[in-house]
Amino acid sequence: MGRIFIISNRVAVPDPKRGVQAGGLEVALRSTLKNHTSIWLGWSGEIKPQEQCETRTITRGSMTYIVSDLSEEDYKEYYSGFANQVLWPILHYRLDLAEFTRRDLTGYLRVNEHFADEITKVLEPDDIVWVHDYHLIPLARALRERGHRNRIGFFLHIPVPPPEILTAMPNHDRLLPALCDYDLVGFQTQGDCANFARYLASEIGIPARIPGATRSTTGVGNMRIGAFPVGIETEEFAAMAARAQDSNFLKRVVRSVPGEIVIGVDRLDYSKGLAQRLDAYQDFLAANPDWHGKVTYLQITPKSRSNIPEYAEMQTLIDTKAGHINSSFGDVSWTPVRYTNQPYSRNALAGLYRAARVGLITPLRDGMNLVAKEYVAAQDPDDPGVLILSRFAGAAAELEAALLVNPYDPESVASAIARALSMPREERVARQRALYASLQANDISIWGARFMKALTRKVGESERVEARSSSVSASPQTRAR
Ligand code: G6P
Repeated sequence: MGRIFIISNRVAVPDPKRGVQAGGLEVALRSTLKNHTSIWLGWSGEIKPQEQCETRTITRGSMTYIVSDLSEEDYKEYYSGFANQVLWPILHYRLDLAEFTRRDLTGYLRVNEHFADEITKVLEPDDIVWVHDYHLIPLARALRERGHRNRIGFFLHIPVPPPEILTAMPNHDRLLPALCDYDLVGFQTQGDCANFARYLASEIGIPARIPGATRSTTGVGNMRIGAFPVGIETEEFAAMAARAQDSNFLKRVVRSVPGEIVIGVDRLDYSKGLAQRLDAYQDFLAANPDWHGKVTYLQITPKSRSNIPEYAEMQTLIDTKAGHINSSFGDVSWTPVRYTNQPYSRNALAGLYRAARVGLITPLRDGMNLVAKEYVAAQDPDDPGVLILSRFAGAAAELEAALLVNPYDPESVASAIARALSMPREERVARQRALYASLQANDISIWGARFMKALTRKVGESERVEARSSSVSASPQTRAR
C-alpha cells in the first residue's frame, strides 16, 4: 500500500509547545496510520486577506501536514455558508434552518477545487486517499477531473436524512451525485446508508440493492457504500477515567457538588437538543421535590460557529433557560444547573464522566455521539452510572442497553432522569456490562482498519468485509478503469 492521504476541513497540527493536541479525528485514526507514511491536508484554521493566504507544509514524525489558509470570502461562503448553513442543518433534518444561496455553493465548490489543486501537487499514483465529512463532498470529482485514478474513500461523520429531505436542498442534483466519484462512501449507521441508497435509487436511477452495486455517473469507477460506525479507544479511555479520580481538579469538583451529578457535554449546537434537555430537567425538578438539593446537572458546552445567527441565538436561549431553572428551584446553598461554555481536556472530562451518576445525552439528531460512548467507557464497572441517550443519536443503534429516550418529549426524559438516579446497583451493573461489551466489539482501531480494508479491497475479492460491516452495496465487479 502507498501512503495514506487524509483530507478533512479542520487540521490540528500538534504543537506541544503551544499546548495544541492532536484533534479528535487524528486520535481516531492513530492506529490506522501508525505503520504508514501519511499526509493530512485541510484548512489551517486561519482566515487571512486573499493576497496573504498561503499553504504550508509541516512535518511531525511520519506525518506531513499540508494546511491552507482561507480568505474571508472562502470562510463566509464555504465554511459558514454552504457547509454550516445548508449542509449541516439539512443533513440534521432541519430544513427550516437552511439558508441557501448560489454564491455560497460557488464558494464551497471553489474551496474544494483549491484543495484538489493542492493535493495534485503531491499525490502519487499509489496513494490511498480518505476524505472526511460534509465540507468535502465534491472533492473526489475535482480529483478525477484532474486525472487521478487513486482509490478515494469518503466518510460522512454526520447523519443522512431520507431523500424526501435531501431533495429539498437546492442543487442537490448537482452536488450529491458527486459522491459517486468515490470508490467507497462510509456512513455512521445502517439507517444513514439506507437513506442514501434510497436517494441514489430515486434521484440518480442507480438501483440500490442490498447488497448491490452502484456505478459512477461519470463512468470513472464503481462506488460502494457501507456503514462503518465510529468507536472510541475504549480501554485507554477507561484507564484515563480511573486515573483522573485522583486529580485535584476532580476532587475539588466532587467536593463542591451536593449529592449526585448528572452530566451533559456537547458543542453549542441546535442539533444537540440542549433547550429540550433543560426543559426536561426542569420537569424532573418540578415532579421530584425529594431530589432538590441532592442532584446537580453539569452541562459543559464549548461555543461553536458563533458568527452564524442560529448559534448566537441559541447561546442566549440556553443562558436564559439555565438561569431560569436556577432562580426558580435553586437557593443559596444549591445550584441545580451548572452551565459553562469552557472547554475541558479529555482527561478532565473522563474524570467527570466517571464521577457522574447520570450521562444525559439527548441530541435531536446526531451522526454518532462519541460523548455517549466515552461516558460508558469511563464508568466504574462495580458502581457505574446510567446513560440516558437519545434514540436519534447514531450511537443508539449500538448502545441499546442505555435508557433510550425521545428528546422531543421532555416529560419522558424527566422520568428517565428520575429512574436513572434511583436505579438499583444490580441493574446499573448489568446495563453497564452490555454497554461496555458493545464498545469493545467496535473499538476505534477496528473502524479505520475496516474502512481501509473495504477501500483497498481488490475487485473480485469476496464480500467478507462488507458482510461484516453491514455494507449496503458492493458486489464484486470489474472496475471501469
Ligand atoms: C462535527 C463535524 C466535524 C466538525 C465538528 C466541529 O463533529 O462532523 O466535521 O469538525 O463538528 O465543528 P467545527 O465547525 O468547529 O469544525
